[in-house]
Order: sequence, then structure tokens, then C-alpha cells
Amino acid sequence: MTAAPTHLLAVHDLTSDEILSIFREAAALKAMRRRALPTQRLSGKTLGLFFEKPSTRTRVSFETGMNQLGGQSIFLSVADIQMRRGETVADTARVLSRYLDGLVIRAYEHHAVEEWACNATIPVINGLTDLHHPCQVLSDLFTIREKKRRWKGIKIAYVGDGNNVANSLIEGAAIMGMAISVACPSGYEPDASIVEWAREKAERTKASIEILRDPYVAVKGADVLYTDVWTSMGQEKEQTRRLKVLAPYQLNEKLVAAAHPDAIVMHCLPAHRGQEITTDVLDGTQSVVLDQAENRLHVQKAILIRLLRDR
Ligand code: CP
Ligand code: NVA
Repeated sequence: MTAAPTHLLAVHDLTSDEILSIFREAAALKAMRRRALPTQRLSGKTLGLFFEKPSTRTRVSFETGMNQLGGQSIFLSVADIQMRRGETVADTARVLSRYLDGLVIRAYEHHAVEEWACNATIPVINGLTDLHHPCQVLSDLFTIREKKRRWKGIKIAYVGDGNNVANSLIEGAAIMGMAISVACPSGYEPDASIVEWAREKAERTKASIEILRDPYVAVKGADVLYTDVWTSMGQEKEQTRRLKVLAPYQLNEKLVAAAHPDAIVMHCLPAHRGQEITTDVLDGTQSVVLDQAENRLHVQKAILIRLLRDR
């Protein structure tokens, strides 16, 4: 009988040891790719991707990653599969589990990926929901380790909207024992139950989780400066208000100058230049956004091997 599948729906599904093991594998895969060494670790396996929202990085890095591991992927467009004609998530998940070896789901409500995971008998990976973006943040932690050579003692300042990326970063910082200061306007805080969970976790890992109003206080002494779009996918109707309320949180040269001089600048992309980040900062010498995007590939390949290999 096949063992129950292991899913990855949020960063908190993993322990620090499991994260470190994924990163060791990711570093090895990255080194192999640099030397153009082939690997067939997922030969014969097929990954399905069902995305309710658009994607450039997540889709392409998962599909390419699967290909590089000797497997294949199938993109299941919302417009083409029978769900749009009323077939339920439960029925679709049970049927797809008979064909596929893993599924990446990008959804609006986090509850939707939980429903996929509840019904699938294959691993389900969260490719972003309104609440979490675990694959992004695992890749970001890997990038921070590459650039700063450590996690302990590192301070992350996240400025702007307390969204899915902020929520996952808070979980990651709590698990890895890092300090994170989130600066956001009132009403735009990260998810309260995630912050509560992270603060409890932080007591054991010596992390620190701070939610502030003033971006200049948040970036003081920070080694990592992180921002994300002010209007996430699905919030388009709120855009005018968001542009106004979040304007003081722009990551610009003045804010960068208030951080540690060696601070790295991160953004999960896509960026809205001139809104949450200025072009000079996004393209500046402290920016690591392209390495960050590249590392999605290596870290997700390690995740795929971990979840799909022995099934
Ligand atoms: N950062 C990220 O998840 O990008 P996509 O929306 O392009 O996948
Ligand atoms: N917070 C953004 C991330 C995009 C990768 C969104 O959800 O649209």
C-alpha cells in the first residue's frame, strides 16, 4: 500500500532540519546545473500544475525543473479542464491522483489547496495562495544563506503590504531563528494567527518577530530588505486606495540608506517599478532579485525530489 502523501502547503509544514536538508540538495543541484551534469532522479514521474492565477516564475521553474530531473509536467489550464463546468475539486483531485505523481496548485483561497491536499493521494505543493507562498520563501531563505552565509543573527526588514509573501517570510524567520521586522500601515498587517504562531515558535528558536508602522525603524540594522507588490492578485479593485495608503512604504534609495550598508534587496517579482520599489533600487548593486528568481528552480527541484521520489 502506498504511504499517505506528504504535502507542502506552508513553510510551517517543515522543520528547520527538513529545510536544511532541502537546501543541501538544492545547492548540489545548482552546482550540477552549473557543470551541465544531467540527472534522472524523477525519471518516469509526471507533475501536474493547476493555476487559478497567472504565473511566470512558479510555472516555468516547476515545469523546467521537472524536465531537468528527467520527468515531465502537464499544465492544466482553468479554461480547459472540466472544473469550469462544475466538476468538484474533490473529484478532480482523486482522478488526477490516478495519473500524476504530484500536483502544484496556485489558488485564491488557501482553503482550496487544503481541499486538494485532503482529496489527493499524491503530494500537493502550494504554488501560492492568498495566505501563503512557501516555495518563494524557501527559495528566499536559500538565497539569504548564499549571500550572507548564515541565518542566525540576520535581520530581515519587510516593508509594505502584509501579504502572502510576508506571512510565509514570518514563518520562515521563526523556524530558522532569524529576526524579522515588518513595517506596514494599519489594516495591512500580516495574518494575525500566523504572527501568533510565529511568536510562539520564536521563543524556542530565538527568532524575533516585530510588526511596526515606521519603515525607517524596521530597516535600521537590517541585512535583508524585502518588499512585494502593494496589490496582490485578486485585490485589483482596491488598487487606488492601496497606492495611497502604502506610498510611505516605498523601498527607495533613502530607505535603503537607512539599513545596514551591506544589506541585500529582495523582491519576489513581478515588481511594479515606481510603486513598492524604485527602478534604481530594483536594478541597483544591492539587489539580488535575479538570483532570488533563479533559486526558485534549484530549491523547487529539491522539493520535488523530496516529495515525489519514493512514491
Ligand atoms: N514570484 C512568483 O511567484 O512569481 P510568479 O507569479 O510569476 O510565479
Ligand atoms: N503577493 C503577490 C505575489 C506574487 C508572486 C501576489 O499574491 O500577487
